[in-house]
Amino acid sequence: MAFIHMHKWIICSAWPYLDGRPHIGTFMHLLSADVYSRYLRMLGEEVVSVSGSDEHGTPIEVEALRLGSSPKELSNRYHDTMLKLLDAYMIKLDNYTRTESKVHIQFVRDFYLRLEKNGYIYPKVENQLYCEYDKRFLPDRFVEGICPYCGAPGARGDQCDSCGRLLEPTKLIEPKCVICGKTPVIKETKQWFFDLPSLSNEIQSYIERNKNLPENARNFSINWLKEGLQARAVTRDNRWGIPAPFKGADNKTIYVWMEAVLGYLSAVKELEDTKGSNLFEFFWKDKESRSVFFIGKDNIPFHTIILPALLIASKEGYALPWQVSSTEFVLFEGKKFSKSKHIGIWMDEAMTIAPPEYWRFVMMYLRPEIRDANFTWSEFDRMVNDELNDVLGNFINRVLSFVERFFDSKVPDAGDLNHESKSILLAVSEAWNQYRSNMDAFAIREALKIMVDLARKGNEYMSSTEPWLLVKNKNNRQSASTVLYTCCQVVYTLAIMMYPFMPSSAEKLLRMLGLDYKVIKAEVAGHAALSPGHKIGRVSQLFSKVQIPKA
Ligand code: MF3
Ligand code: ZN
Repeated sequence: MAFIHMHKWIICSAWPYLDGRPHIGTFMHLLSADVYSRYLRMLGEEVVSVSGSDEHGTPIEVEALRLGSSPKELSNRYHDTMLKLLDAYMIKLDNYTRTESKVHIQFVRDFYLRLEKNGYIYPKVENQLYCEYDKRFLPDRFVEGICPYCGAPGARGDQCDSCGRLLEPTKLIEPKCVICGKTPVIKETKQWFFDLPSLSNEIQSYIERNKNLPENARNFSINWLKEGLQARAVTRDNRWGIPAPFKGADNKTIYVWMEAVLGYLSAVKELEDTKGSNLFEFFWKDKESRSVFFIGKDNIPFHTIILPALLIASKEGYALPWQVSSTEFVLFEGKKFSKSKHIGIWMDEAMTIAPPEYWRFVMMYLRPEIRDANFTWSEFDRMVNDELNDVLGNFINRVLSFVERFFDSKVPDAGDLNHESKSILLAVSEAWNQYRSNMDAFAIREALKIMVDLARKGNEYMSSTEPWLLVKNKNNRQSASTVLYTCCQVVYTLAIMMYPFMPSSAEKLLRMLGLDYKVIKAEVAGHAALSPGHKIGRVSQLFSKVQIPKA
């Protein structure tokens, strides 16, 4: 690998909990990470992108219990499904691994031994909820009740979805075992704790120093720090998980969140084993590296408090989170996602409705960057059939078939660029600049809209200049040439803008433009980069309309 770079980027997407059928919510972060990595690579940046299946959560253990299967067997099956779907949707991370991977398990165990050595881990006997009927402790999602902070029902033992606060099971009001529904009792058990409070000052100064953290992540973390951090138990009495490495903790496992967040590191380590260079050091042990996390808003505290705290406590000089790009929720026809009520869009089903790339377009168009987004079929219809087909696809098709038919498949002469064509060329470079500055600010959805708007401008230009009338008259042929020369430049920039979002359509388009689709030169976007006389390739339709399923 040639390490010529402007920055080193570690692109991380939240490790999804596995369940049998990933849906739009599961894929939102993975797709964002893929789009972003492609964008950075296109600019020649040095990137490593990682994620993986978060296998050890209590949900999978609960589900395995329900189905009479083992967590491992379920997890294997779900992980395979995940790999197939990622492939189908062209989500190509450098390493999409799993928390059951050997490298991860070893990394986590070593990491915690080091933390113990550094004095941040200590054992303590504490009260925990225990179900006498199921004969087991009830950590995290094994128990639900009323949130002691906001009063919302259905709060889980580890976190309340309503207010986002992290909880301890014993603090829940009216706790109930999720397996049998009975009220648990309190029982003593010994656990190993992570001394979060002793890191308060360092976390505080990290948050103050890091000017990149978006407002929501910053406020959330600052409030939490104000309330005072509490030590968090690192161990659990679960069987399904990574065995705790501490002396005397033989039957305990590591709390799923406390190990999954380390996956961002272990996945790079694992990559090193296959790629055989010092990737891990190169990316993670450089304080200047820019790590970017694409996560849901309910994951914020783990990425702005817990992860930095763990990294600081290791004293290994790891890069701390640089950007945390968290999104709100996607609603479906105004309703909250629900697996049991079948409210949502599942990735396998989605593919039978529209090609995966169309979903990439739709999902990034919906990306809930500021507020919750609402998926509706009528919006989907508009996005795919109007924006993608009538605006983007149609413009490209009009331009290229025109060039093929009337200009012998060669980019026409610029001729005398008049005021109108100059303003279109200016719009191209402005659009490219805006696209870039939005992408750089993680406003991915805005960047996508700029692409569509540019195509819209191009379409209007075509319609108003009517080159199909111009070519008919010998005296006006030069004007038609100017129009099409200008439009070709628009199409080229659109192809580059399209690449992160719809890589295979962009490649197809670049081939139609007679360009080497393997070498995407983002630096020429926004300029009049196609010279007159350049021969374009065979033209075919880029997108087609989609039948909207009846509700
Ligand atoms: N599995 C978690 C969720 O879906 C996210 C874990 S992110 C990681 O909410 F940091 F732990 F990797
Ligand atoms: Zn029970």
